Amino acid sequence: MTTIENLAGVPSAGELSILANEMFPDLTEGAYGVPETDIPVASVPETVPVSEEFDWEHPFAYGGGDPYFQSVEEVSAPEAEYLPGIADMPVVTTDSSTSYAPAVMSQTQAKEHDRKIDAPTSLGGDKVTSSKSEVERSTSRNDSIRIGSKTLAQIRDDFPILKEQINGHQLVWLDNGATTQRPQAVIDRLKYYYEHENSNVHRGAHTLAARSTDAYEDARDTVRDFIGAPSSDEIVFVRGTTEGINLVANAYVKPLLEPGDEIIVSILEHHANIVPWQLVAQATGAVIKVIPCDETGQLILHEYEKLFTPKTKFVSVTHVSNVLGTVTPIEEIIAIAHRHGVRVLVDGAQSVAHIPVNVSALDVDFFVFSGHKIFAPTGIGVVYGKKELLEAAQPYHGGGNMIADVTFERTIYNPAPNKFEAGTGSIADAVGLGAALKYLSQIGMPCVYRWEHELLQYAMKEMSTVKGLHFIGTALNKASALAFTLDGYSDEEVGKRLDAYGIAVRTGHHCAQPVLRRFGYESSVRPTLALYNSPDDIDALVKVLKTFA
Ligand SMILES: Cc1ncc(COP(=O)(O)O)c(C=O)c1O
Repeated sequence: MTTIENLAGVPSAGELSILANEMFPDLTEGAYGVPETDIPVASVPETVPVSEEFDWEHPFAYGGGDPYFQSVEEVSAPEAEYLPGIADMPVVTTDSSTSYAPAVMSQTQAKEHDRKIDAPTSLGGDKVTSSKSEVERSTSRNDSIRIGSKTLAQIRDDFPILKEQINGHQLVWLDNGATTQRPQAVIDRLKYYYEHENSNVHRGAHTLAARSTDAYEDARDTVRDFIGAPSSDEIVFVRGTTEGINLVANAYVKPLLEPGDEIIVSILEHHANIVPWQLVAQATGAVIKVIPCDETGQLILHEYEKLFTPKTKFVSVTHVSNVLGTVTPIEEIIAIAHRHGVRVLVDGAQSVAHIPVNVSALDVDFFVFSGHKIFAPTGIGVVYGKKELLEAAQPYHGGGNMIADVTFERTIYNPAPNKFEAGTGSIADAVGLGAALKYLSQIGMPCVYRWEHELLQYAMKEMSTVKGLHFIGTALNKASALAFTLDGYSDEEVGKRLDAYGIAVRTGHHCAQPVLRRFGYESSVRPTLALYNSPDDIDALVKVLKTFA
């Protein structure tokens, strides 16, 4: 039987379909996870494509364009155009010999050096009309869409905030890349924790200390199972992806670095996977090298391979771009780095809620993600690190909870994960994270992946009918993000008009300025999907976008 363990990292869509069917044999056949014969003909969403145009043979091929998107006139990835950044920094090129000795400084220091730091684009006035025209949303087709163990309608019911009225309209939450909404199961778990279990962990002999410690460690075990880690000792709780990357950069990588050493990141990175490396590079004299992407927004593997030299000490790359939605060829990226004897961190902030992840199958050295992007509370995140690497790493913060013994002469700290969890952590939020992952596992991540893939195709097809809409990022393998610009309108104007209809999308630079500038933009409008989004959400989005024409 195919199991999640023997799928290598990111399985192909075909493998996922097989796995989904095996996990939920009665529930996952057919386009939406139910036997096609069971779907009332009238309620099958007519407009959702059943992937005929999608190349299922090569769903994860990197590079090149998807013929499906090439056939759509409105879709265009503009020619690369490099806008000025910090004046004396080398521009991003696809020349694999370029490396950066980054200067990280305050705005005052930058002014002193007569350097230009681009502030977020100043955006135009509010031209929103508060038209009351209603977007019809049917729930019946959500009943016929089955995602693993639940229907889409049931999943939507699990998220109370989706019933919220915003500006007189039902909320359409398409800002999942920034943060996801929380299911009732997570809200209830937090309430139960505070009503029945609240205490500090690992300290004290009383009953509540034992309950909270059990709940906290159970959450760690749940994370281990969810990402396929060999041991719970390899799961470190942190505040989120940002703190996790900073932890790895400072605790593991920085002590390895000497002047001239090299760290590889990609052009697709969120600032959280750029600035920590710039800071350690600045402190040690190391340099940063950047994997370029092609016109679709996919990383160019042969250029990546050329970046390696004997001085390469670490690779840190995103699994999914938070702007373009590109799913990077992470298995190849890890394998190539390992061939060169180099360790890899994968930023899973935008992948873990959308794609089944198995860190053991990927053989990744560090995998980092944020709870709030996977239906869990804010203030909690995870660093998975291979045991021997966490052992080799220095403690990141010092203090209580991480020590075995302290004297003024010498202090002995605990092994991982406690060694990285100084002070009182976000205990309830970790417990909430455990509840969120259990909720997802109950639905079935392969089914979530398959559903979102279909919804993304539907969204791209429908959005490409909007006049003047330009997608940013058309890689063959995409997840969740649908960044675009609209001719003649500022991104903020688009975002505000959508909000007037209850539709939440992100506008701005999305904390990933290098990749936007790679495509010639300073900002964009970015809807991002999650498992509870429906074809109706897409229809509502497209309907409002068409009012700009
Ligand atoms: C790809 C990626 N990495 C890192 C982060 C930072 O996550 P957090 O703010 O939860 O630390 C984000 C947030 O949007 C992201 O999209």
